[in-house]
Amino acid sequence: MEITKICCIGAGYVGGPTMAVIAQKCPHIQVTVVDLNEERIAAWNDPNTDNIPIYEPGLSEIVATARGRNLFFSTAVDQAIDEAQIIFISVNTPTKTYGKGKGMAADLKYIELCARQIARVAKDNKIVVEKSTLPVRTAEAIKSILDHTGNGVQFQILSNPEFLAEGTAVTDLLQPDRILIGGDTTPEGKKAMEALVQVYSNWVPTDKILTTNVWSSELSKLTANAFLAQRISSVNAMSELCEKTGADINEVAKAIGMDSRIGPKFLKASVGFGGSCFQKDILNLVYIAKSYGLHEVADYWEQVIIMNDHQKRRFSNGIVQTLYNTVSDKKITFLGWAFKKDTNDTRESAAIFVADDLINEHAKIAVYDPKVSSKKILEDLNYLATRSPEHNQDSVTSYRDPYEACQDAHAIAILTEWDEFIHYDWQKIFDAMQKPAFIFDGRNVLDAAQLRAIGFVYQGIGS
Ligand code: UDX
Ligand code: UDX
Repeated sequence: MEITKICCIGAGYVGGPTMAVIAQKCPHIQVTVVDLNEERIAAWNDPNTDNIPIYEPGLSEIVATARGRNLFFSTAVDQAIDEAQIIFISVNTPTKTYGKGKGMAADLKYIELCARQIARVAKDNKIVVEKSTLPVRTAEAIKSILDHTGNGVQFQILSNPEFLAEGTAVTDLLQPDRILIGGDTTPEGKKAMEALVQVYSNWVPTDKILTTNVWSSELSKLTANAFLAQRISSVNAMSELCEKTGADINEVAKAIGMDSRIGPKFLKASVGFGGSCFQKDILNLVYIAKSYGLHEVADYWEQVIIMNDHQKRRFSNGIVQTLYNTVSDKKITFLGWAFKKDTNDTRESAAIFVADDLINEHAKIAVYDPKVSSKKILEDLNYLATRSPEHNQDSVTSYRDPYEACQDAHAIAILTEWDEFIHYDWQKIFDAMQKPAFIFDGRNVLDAAQLRAIGFVYQGIGS
């Protein structure tokens, strides 16, 4: 089957960049990205592509080339479903906040809504692709909804998990390590997989496109994220031991990373991992293991989350302790709020939890992040519901200028590893701060020796 029309439900951090790259690389395919959120679609259609809702290096340029040619953003969900041969589902699957599996299982409410909408609208055979990260065997549920509520047309469900990391989404999509496609082993299933392989082979070498059964594909995504997060929790666990013993985690990480069996990536000690995926996917894995009665397996993976929570708490406790056991009414400046550099995404960012702890201790938080709005920062804190929105508003001020943010501060905490922080005029910042001037580098990105020479009291992670 020659694919000429694709639709994607969900214009978020995954759907938006993925479809933009497919459109750029496959000019013969019409790609329509739909979303319920009108404001978000309007932003994707902003004539100035610098205003698209998601910041990713290189993305606005791709959107500028393909949009209006074969890339479209729309709220007309039914029409897009009706026209497409392949429908990607890329809606969010947050951790459940209610009922059975609360705080652990993935909330599949939006996925089910999408499946029902597809079933209602589809008048010819469709390939439905799960792009959202889902618990194993979700494809089965989607298939059941489609087959029982549809108009008698045939659906093939594929799992095609996304491995892009935010901040490098465009290069990850253009040069993926691998593309994973899971499908049924029936002849129809194989044909559907082949159709999707054809789409990707417009720019990805075929030896990097793996096909598997649906459950292997679904579980591979959860496993990949669990392994990556586990490396960070492992290195963070060692960072605490380093602080007690006089070893330096940066040196330890370098030494072990040179072992080719271990490798150098994902060994950076930090204030803790964030992002929309790691915690959610591991909790999901833990929930699945528990539901099969595999308690040792569940506990093993849960420890990765426990370690991460400990690392965030340890960072805020360290600030309070070092500032003579009180931060009441002290100005503490956060440089960075996003969960990592080169993104405006703040989901599960360590900054939120560290700020929450410090506000509990009556600190005044000043925030500077080059890409995150003051509105988003307050929303993130309000979402935790630790205290009233008014109280949060009184406790946090955000700035568009980093030097102003640091003026008269008692301490600076680095929460995101934005490159620009390295190039600041640190002498100027030191001169404008309260003394002693403290820096808590939650990302180990600043030059400790240089800062100490200026007069800062510098504390990194794990040394
Ligand atoms: C999402 C999932 O969170 C993640 O598990 C998966 O791997 C990829 O998809 P992301 O793209 O980052 O990640 O989510 P988000 O930026 O929240 O985008 C989802 C979009 O779907 C939102 O714009 C939302 O408005 C839209 N949506 C949600 C719909 O259009 N319809 C719905 O029924 C639900
Ligand atoms: C992750 C996976 O990498 C990606 O393959 C998957 O599809 C989605 O989840 P993402 O969450 O966008 O991507 O970012 P990632 O680069 O994995 O970083 C996650 C968190 O770990 C960030 O908060 C980052 O700062 C932190 N991190 C990463 C560390 O603390 N140390 C490291 O060495 C690496």
